[in-house]
Amino acid sequence: MKVVSFDKLVSWVGQRVSAKEIFSLDHTCMNEYAFQQKFVDYLSASRITTVSPYYVQTFLRRYIELIERSGEEMAEELYEIYCGELLGAKQLDVSDKEVITYHVGGFGSGAGTSDHTVKIYEAPRLISGSNTTGLRTWEAALYLSNYLNTHPYDWSGKTVLELGGGTGLLSLALTKQPLKEIIITDGSAALIDNLSETLHMNAIDNGPTIKCHQLLWGTTNPNSPDFVQGPPANVDVVVAADVTYDSSILDVLATTISDFLQSGTKMALIAATVRNEQTIADWNASLDRWFDGQWSVVNSCAVPGDIDSLCWFRERTPEIRVYEIRAKLG
Ligand SMILES: C[S@@+](CC[C@H](N)C(=O)[O-])C[C@H]1O[C@@H](n2cnc3c(N)ncnc32)[C@H](O)[C@@H]1O
Repeated sequence: MKVVSFDKLVSWVGQRVSAKEIFSLDHTCMNEYAFQQKFVDYLSASRITTVSPYYVQTFLRRYIELIERSGEEMAEELYEIYCGELLGAKQLDVSDKEVITYHVGGFGSGAGTSDHTVKIYEAPRLISGSNTTGLRTWEAALYLSNYLNTHPYDWSGKTVLELGGGTGLLSLALTKQPLKEIIITDGSAALIDNLSETLHMNAIDNGPTIKCHQLLWGTTNPNSPDFVQGPPANVDVVVAADVTYDSSILDVLATTISDFLQSGTKMALIAATVRNEQTIADWNASLDRWFDGQWSVVNSCAVPGDIDSLCWFRERTPEIRVYEIRAKLG
């Protein structure tokens, strides 16, 4: 079972993991007085009580109850924060947005793990319908972000383009790599517009150049009736996360990846969540049709909820796979 540590707790609170999920783990160390005081210092120093007052209030209610039950001495300041500035905090409406902080510095939970985080402005209570899938960050993006920052490829001076970028987490996770340029694309113009706020909030200095533009799959091949423009030039690597969720879009996605691989891109890295066996079988079949002998699953995690790390994966997150598709040699 995962054990709560101070660093993990702070990271999970930033990611707004529910109190119920956190306190279902081994959290005995949290009852200690010194731990409570450290948490008070964190609450006072960070902006979390202003950014997510209802979430912190709910979290503290449960924390205080558990400390009381444990018989340990309670840090008065915890109670003061709970009864003071958080009093009257209201639950968000379904479409209300909050800043969520995701750890993307690599899997791991202690010393040596990079503290790289990305802030995303999103609606955490939104239940996604077909037009809102890009309004929240999906587990495959969080997984691929941490995977690529744990097992870095040779990014030096390269240009990466993301397909179906949604909130932009994956691209922003790569900003600490020595890339030349990152291009975030999505089919939705509204999502591309949202990205300017996200980029501003993450204030990336001294990193790669970042560009955002609309790119609808299926529009990059001059032989297609839907042709709008060819793939952007000089892209070395294409990345994408959770873009294989619907069988009806797989071929059009594959055509776009193929257009890139025929225009000089060396490789595509796609993270897929295995929610439905048939959809993933359809994706594998699309890969065979378009990229026979060029693709493989380079990494997979059967139970992401078991990952003991600063980033949090919900208990019932389905298997996540990382697919690598290589350009034809020669
Ligand atoms: C499930 S979301 C994943 C978003 C993000 N990659 C993540 O993992 O958090 C799928 C994304 O693909 C985009 N998308 C879906 N169909 C598309 C298409 N035909 N062309 C371009 N983007 C598309 C959606 O707008 C959405 O942002």
